[in-house]
Amino acid sequence: MSLETVVVNLGDRSYPVVVGHGAITSLADLIGPAVQRCAVVTQEGIPSDVALPVESKRFVIERGEKTKTLSTIESLSQGFAEMGLTRHDVVIAVGGGMVTDVAGFAASAWHRGTPVIHVATTLLGMVDAAIGGKTGVNLPQGKNLVGAFWQPVGVICDLDALSTLPESEMRCGLGEVAKYHFLTGDDLLSLSLEQRVAQCVRIKSSFVEKDEREGGQRALLNYGHTLAHALEIVGGHQLAHGEAVAIGLVFAAHLAHAMNRISSERVDYHELVVSKTYGLASRVPPGMSVEALLNAMSRDKKAVSGLTFVLDSEHGPQVVSNVSSDLVRKTLTSFMSLT
Ligand SMILES: NC(=O)c1ccc[n+]([C@@H]2O[C@H](COP(=O)([O-])OP(=O)(O)OC[C@H]3O[C@@H](n4cnc5c(N)ncnc54)[C@H](O)[C@@H]3O)[C@@H](O)[C@H]2O)c1
Repeated sequence: MSLETVVVNLGDRSYPVVVGHGAITSLADLIGPAVQRCAVVTQEGIPSDVALPVESKRFVIERGEKTKTLSTIESLSQGFAEMGLTRHDVVIAVGGGMVTDVAGFAASAWHRGTPVIHVATTLLGMVDAAIGGKTGVNLPQGKNLVGAFWQPVGVICDLDALSTLPESEMRCGLGEVAKYHFLTGDDLLSLSLEQRVAQCVRIKSSFVEKDEREGGQRALLNYGHTLAHALEIVGGHQLAHGEAVAIGLVFAAHLAHAMNRISSERVDYHELVVSKTYGLASRVPPGMSVEALLNAMSRDKKAVSGLTFVLDSEHGPQVVSNVSSDLVRKTLTSFMSLT
């Protein structure tokens, strides 16, 4: 496949997402003519040997969520000051969702808003984190509590970068890719990985275009995430996020079926995509209690009213609030007894 460009249409903040093997060659085209300096933010171990047409400085941040903090924003900002980065220059984030979230937030605040380009190097970054403009860092009190909506001026999704991605990180991205199979009527199964990534980008863009600031429609992107977040919390983050999402998707299908929203064939389709297509586990790991999971789900920060799930229907997924806790308990108990 040759390179494909998906445009995220947001008026004067529209931008291209270039997808394909070798997409990194398009990076120079995204750097505007007035740019004199690039601040490249990345991590060790990420292939970031990018040819840039102007002076650049590389900032390496530590791996892991513990570095997704305001103090990293402060040290990046001090580095930007030392190199003389101005609002007419550009920040280039080369990495997964952690790097694009941190560098994007630093760019949003630098001189009250400096352009950022995301070079996504994880599958999750390509289909999700790099697109849509959500940036931010964690506080001890919770994830992504401080941040900004700051759209990039362009995104590169070069699938060659995935060749060095650890298997566990690939699985994490596949959990999010699986989610896109159920959000629209598109047949992703018939596509190659490259075409599938481009299609996921298209689907994510369409949600962002309809609801840039997550007031409604964009919440559907949280399909599978209600149980997923609970599994992550109760399991002490033993499951990676994407692995938890995969289980959450299948549970959401069982719950939707229990509420007569979808047929058993549609539940089977969820199982097929998650386990057969992507080889991901679709069952809750042993040792977790129903009550602990219910408790964590009722505290989900996305819950607008009572237990809230994105649930499939014959018209596609919808946000459903105030789902009966008795029904969730019953469905979860029988889901957890499945082998
Ligand atoms: N902004 C959003 O809309 C959004 C959406 C989803 C997730 N997120 C955020 O994204 C983060 C998770 O992102 P992630 O799953 O990409 O993880 P990550 O960015 O932490 O990357 C995972 C690991 O892979 C390494 N890595 C990245 N690319 C590599 C490559 N090509 N080769 C070898 N190693 C590589 C990284 O250094 C890191 O150690 C979380 O902080 C989450 O909150 C943001």
